[in-house]
Amino acid sequence: MTALPPGDENRWSIRCIDVHKRLGGVAILDGVTLDIPDDTITIVLGPSGTGKSVLIKHLIGLMFPDSGDIVVHGNSVPQLPLPQLLALRRSIGVLFQDGALFGSMSVFDNVAFPLRQHTERSEAEIATVVKQRLADVGLGAFEHLHPSELSGGMRKRAGFARALAIEPDIVIFDEPDSGLDPVRTALLCELIQEMHATYGGTYIVVTHDIAAARRIGEYIAVLWKGRIVESGDAAEMFASENPFVRQFLSGSASGPLGMD
Ligand SMILES: Nc1ncnc2c1ncn2[C@@H]1O[C@H](COP(=O)(O)OP(=O)(O)OP(=O)(O)O)[C@@H](O)[C@H]1O
Ligand SMILES: [Mg+2]
Repeated sequence: MTALPPGDENRWSIRCIDVHKRLGGVAILDGVTLDIPDDTITIVLGPSGTGKSVLIKHLIGLMFPDSGDIVVHGNSVPQLPLPQLLALRRSIGVLFQDGALFGSMSVFDNVAFPLRQHTERSEAEIATVVKQRLADVGLGAFEHLHPSELSGGMRKRAGFARALAIEPDIVIFDEPDSGLDPVRTALLCELIQEMHATYGGTYIVVTHDIAAARRIGEYIAVLWKGRIVESGDAAEMFASENPFVRQFLSGSASGPLGMD
């Protein structure tokens, strides 16, 4: 576990403090303690079914912990009054596991949606932002298509453009690589890096893809059985002595991690 150096409190934009959550009688989050640095690409790595999506829902206040706390930009999420909670949710860009686009809307309208919902901007201003974001993700020529007319990779990029539309300080990606071939995964990773270099902010990428973690992770946290096994700067993590972290990051079959 990375200890917080004194005087470095401003480094963290999100802090999870001993977060416990039971679902259906099972402890899914079993004491998650994790600090996520500002202006950095953090990878939360963990095997399938280990609670990654549940953790994301806690970060954006779609689920609340049974005990423990989630502090985002200094505010305790479970204690926020509803108007501030809604404002917090609006300020975080989320790319859900399946893109979560509206099937009945064009790509343009999907990306425009959060701007029309949550800002007072004129249609002309909105069109400028939408076209810029679609150009950023390489979908400039496809704004009139509907999600069913896009490939899986294009849907991810459209979801990314929508997540970036509101210029969020925090962007969360839930398994951006699921369902993509290795080349498209690599391209999407590059895009995530480029967008981060351009717009900055706290990026959190949740995945079980070690190659993606290697490629773009600046800070890495390993989640297993509802707890953070270890977290730290990427170089530190890839040199970890922890047997579980070593096995997981090397993708090895031998070690403490089994199929159970
Ligand atoms: N609303 C819910 N009610 C009951 N159980 C749930 C609920 N949401 C998730 N779970 C359970 O919590 C566990 C963790 O689920 P989660 O979706 O967070 O896994 P994950 O790490 O995101 O997996 P994957 O890599 O496959 O996406 C699973 O066992 C799942 O069945
Ligand atoms: Mg998931």
